[in-house]
Amino acid sequence: MSSIFKKLTARKEEGIVRALRANDGKIDFSSNDYLGLAASPVLAEAIDQIYKQAFSNPINGSGGSRLLAGHFDFYDQVEKELAAFFETEAVLIFNSGYSANLALLSTLPQKGDTIIMDEYIHASLKDGARLSFASKFSFRHNDLSDLESKLKKAEGTVFIVAESLYSMDGDFAPVEALQKLAEQYKAYLIIDEAHTTGIYGKQGRGFLHEKKIADLVPFKIYTFGKAMGIHGACIAGSQELKDYLINFARPFIYTTAMPPHAFASVHAAFAHIQQYPKQKDQLMSNILHWNKLVKGEAGFSTNESPIQTYTYPGNQNIRALAQSMQSNNYDVRPILSPTVKEGTERLRICLHAYNTPQEIASLIQLITTFHE
Ligand SMILES: Cc1ncc(COP(=O)(O)O)c(C=O)c1O
Repeated sequence: MSSIFKKLTARKEEGIVRALRANDGKIDFSSNDYLGLAASPVLAEAIDQIYKQAFSNPINGSGGSRLLAGHFDFYDQVEKELAAFFETEAVLIFNSGYSANLALLSTLPQKGDTIIMDEYIHASLKDGARLSFASKFSFRHNDLSDLESKLKKAEGTVFIVAESLYSMDGDFAPVEALQKLAEQYKAYLIIDEAHTTGIYGKQGRGFLHEKKIADLVPFKIYTFGKAMGIHGACIAGSQELKDYLINFARPFIYTTAMPPHAFASVHAAFAHIQQYPKQKDQLMSNILHWNKLVKGEAGFSTNESPIQTYTYPGNQNIRALAQSMQSNNYDVRPILSPTVKEGTERLRICLHAYNTPQEIASLIQLITTFHE
């Protein structure tokens, strides 16, 4: 039996074992709840209202796959609203960003095709690619010439996969250049907008909208579990794409659909961000504040995004630093290798609309004085 779990034993011996820990009310510099919607009483109230309006009798669970008993007219309505919001022909909602990415990458590229992925893309996209029979290559992070060299060798229908904002580094992809390269090589671009949904572009339509190229990117993933403060995700594109996924995407077909209350949450959360733009403005102001304070300080990132880092190489070092932040009541988590490359171990610091300028300044102060 113990041989089955030997990788866990090795991890314990290295001191890098993962364990679950409940939130204990520390000052949040860790969650992806960038706008504070996950704990918003205003949004909670709106969700309940919408749910009760849409479903006159309680329906606690969807009761099946959306292709069987688990589909309702209200689900169609929410998808139409989202398609209008994202200015795309159609969207299909999935139970999570993980299953949306798994679905897209495992279903679209076929045997004989080629998937070319940024080396830093999320595990869900990599896992989807692994399930596909297409050939797969990585290109160096945000390195267009490396991408182009791989495009030159690619066979069949070619898919380029990137995120608009990278979740561990907090930097953006050069999306305009990626789109141009895709066009030049007749490749299809897939962009995961998980960390930009709700906070970039007009009213939160995402980074591709901000750059005015959303209509030129055929496959987009928007997730709801981060700035939107709820749960789920959608793939946005053409009606043909939606029909194709409904017919062939196993993570869509062989699973119980999200419950009606979750669809009411999607409707309410997207209405909320359009009605209350103030939280987005507050988040942007906190990002500027962070960048002003850390400018020129060694180890700190100055990303124009809510995801910042403080790099302090070595798993033991970064754990000790995070532990010290925790004991000062700051919820900041260490990112260890092998999650990131050895030598780039870091704190991942997420900024939120609800962090105060004083909290941000004190956190920076605590990090810089840790070494003294
Ligand atoms: C870039 C990216 N894509 C997809 C996901 C998965 O989304 P979800 O949490 O909704 O499964 C994540 C979550 O961490 C992510 O960071």
